[in-house]
Amino acid sequence: MIGGVQGVLQGLDAKPHRRGATTLRLLGELQPYGRTLVGAAALILVVAVCQALGPWLVSRAIDVNVARHDGRGLVVTIAVMAAVYVMGALAQRIQIFVIGTIGQRVLAELRQRLFSRFQGLPIGFFDQRPIGDLMGRVSNDVDALNQLLTHGLTQSIGAVFGLLVILVAMAMLNSLLALVCLATLPLMGLTIWMLARWARFAYREARKTTGMVMAELQEEIGGLRETQAFNRAGESEARFRERNRANRDANIRAAVATSVFSPAIDVMSALTIAAVIGSGAWLVLQGSLTLGLLAAFVLYIGQFFWPIQIVAQVSAQLQAALAGAERIYEILDEDPEAETGGLSLVSGQGRVEYREVEFSYTSGRPVLSGVSFVAEPGETIAIVGPTGAGKTSIANLLLRFYDVSAGEVLVDGVDVRDVPREALRAQIAVVAQEPFLFSGTVAENLAYGRPNATREEVVAMAKAVGADAFIEALPQGYDTPLGEGAGRLGHGQRQLLAIARAVLADRPILLMDEATSHVDAATEASLQRALATALEGRTAIVIAHRLSTIRHADLILVVADGRIAERGTHDELLAAGGRYAELYRHHEEASGHSVTPR
Ligand SMILES: Nc1ncnc2c1ncn2[C@@H]1O[C@H](COP(=O)(O)OP(=O)(O)OP(=O)(O)O)[C@@H](O)[C@H]1O
Ligand SMILES: [Mg+2]
Repeated sequence: MIGGVQGVLQGLDAKPHRRGATTLRLLGELQPYGRTLVGAAALILVVAVCQALGPWLVSRAIDVNVARHDGRGLVVTIAVMAAVYVMGALAQRIQIFVIGTIGQRVLAELRQRLFSRFQGLPIGFFDQRPIGDLMGRVSNDVDALNQLLTHGLTQSIGAVFGLLVILVAMAMLNSLLALVCLATLPLMGLTIWMLARWARFAYREARKTTGMVMAELQEEIGGLRETQAFNRAGESEARFRERNRANRDANIRAAVATSVFSPAIDVMSALTIAAVIGSGAWLVLQGSLTLGLLAAFVLYIGQFFWPIQIVAQVSAQLQAALAGAERIYEILDEDPEAETGGLSLVSGQGRVEYREVEFSYTSGRPVLSGVSFVAEPGETIAIVGPTGAGKTSIANLLLRFYDVSAGEVLVDGVDVRDVPREALRAQIAVVAQEPFLFSGTVAENLAYGRPNATREEVVAMAKAVGADAFIEALPQGYDTPLGEGAGRLGHGQRQLLAIARAVLADRPILLMDEATSHVDAATEASLQRALATALEGRTAIVIAHRLSTIRHADLILVVADGRIAERGTHDELLAAGGRYAELYRHHEEASGHSVTPR
C-alpha cells in the first residue's frame, strides 16, 4: 500500500518537465487581465522613473545649488525630490494592490478549474491516486503560485523596469561609468541562471515530498482507529517521520539554494561598486566628472543591485511556483471523461440489458466475462455471489463509472455509451456498498437526489424505510448536522439513509449494493415491506448477501468468478440444487430466524 503511494507519485513525476511551456501557460493565465496589467506596467514605469530621478536630483543639488551657494534653489530641489519620492511610493502601493488582486483571481480560477477537473475525471483515475496528494495540489501547490503571483510578479516587473530606467539614466549621465556597471551583468546573469537551476530541482523535490506527506497524513487520519486498535501507532509515527524528514530535507535544500543567491550577488555588487568608485574618482581627478555626478552614480549603483537581488529572489520563487504549476497542470491535462453519444433516453421505462459483457479494470485481468441478463421495466433482479465475484463491478458498468471492454450495457434499448452520462445517471438511483453522506443535515442528505423535496416527503420516505425512529432520536432530529463521513452514525443507519435518499430521488431504475447487509432483522423486515412498495413500477438491481432480501426477486443471478453461474427464481434455483441452494442452506443455518416467512 505504501509502496503503491510512492509508486504513483513517482509515476506522475516521471512525465517530462517542460519548464518553458509551463511558464508560457502560467503567463497565459494572465491574459484575461491584459488591460489591467498594462495599467499596472504604466504605474511601474512611473515608479522606476521616480526612483531614477532621485540620484540625478542629488547631483543637481551638489553640482548646481551647493556649488553656487544657492539656498533657495536647494530648497526647491529638495521639495521636488520629496514630491518625486512620494509619487513613486504612491504609484508603487497602487501597483502592488492591482497586481496582488489579479494574482488572487488567477489562483481562485486555477483552484476552481482543478476542482471541476476532479468532478469530470473518470472514477478509475482516483483508484490510483492518494487523495492527500490530490488535495496537496489544490492547497500547497496553488499556494506556491500565490507567492509568485502576488509578490514575486510585482517585484520582478518593477525590478526589471527599474533596472532599465537606471541604465538609461546612467548612460545619459556618463557612458563610461555605465559600461563599468554593465560589465558585471553577464557574470551576474550566469550565476543567477545556475543557481535557479539548482533551486528548481530542490523545489520540485520539496513539492513532491509535500504531496507525499499529505497523502500519508490523509491515510493515517482515515485509518486512525485501526492504527490504535492494532497498536501500530509507533510504526505509523515512524513512517510519517520518514516522509516528514524527506520533506524537511527537500525544503532545507530549497532554502539553501535560495539563500545562496543573495551572498553571490552581494559579492559581485561590492566588486562593481569598488570598480565604479575607483574609476569614477579617477574621472573626477581628471576633471571629466563632477562630484555631484559621482554621488549620483554611487546612489544608482545601490539601486542597480536591488533589482538584481529581487530578480534573483523571484527566480527562486519562480522555481517553487513552476514546480507547483507542473503538478497543477498535470491534473488539468488529464483527459476528462469524453462525453459520448448524442442519443437521448426519453422513454424512462427503465429496461436494463447486459449483452455478453466483458470487463477488466486493468487489461489482462478480466473481472467480468459473458455477463448477459435482462431486467424488464418494473422487475427486480437480484445478484448474489461470493465476495470478489464481480457484483459491484456489474453495477459500476450500469452507471458508467467504467466502460465495458466488450459487449454492451443497454438502458431502454440504448447503449449506455451512446447517451450523455448525465442523462443516463438521471435514470438511476444508487445505494452504494459504502454509502457516503455529506456534511449537512440529515434532511439535506435525504433530499440529495431531489433537492426540492418537501420536509413532508422527506419524513414520509424516512418512515417508509424505517429510518424515522433513529433519526428522531438524534439530538436535533432531521436537522442534526452530519459530520464529514457521518462518523457518528452506524453503518446500518447510514445504509438506511442511503436507501431513503435513493428512493426519494424517484428514478426509474434503482441500483442497490448490499443495501441491507448491515441492518438488523427487525429493521430488515420493515425495510422489506417498504422496499416492496418503493420498488413498484421501478426496475431494481439489488446486490445482497442476505438471501431474505432477494427471495422474491423476478430473477436471481448467481455470480461466481465474473460469470453468471446460475440464474432463475428462488424456487427454481432451490429445486436445481446448485450453488444457490447451497448458499441458501448455509444462510438458513446461520440466520434462519431472520428470514421473513411468507
Ligand atoms: N477499482 C478497481 N480496480 C481494480 N480492481 C478492482 C477494482 N474494484 C474491484 N476490483 C477487483 O475486481 C474483482 C471484483 O470486485 P467487485 O467489487 O465487483 O466484487 P464484489 O462481488 O462486489 O465483492 P463484494 O461482495 O466483496 O462486494 C475483485 O477481484 C476486485 O479485487
Ligand atoms: Mg461489492
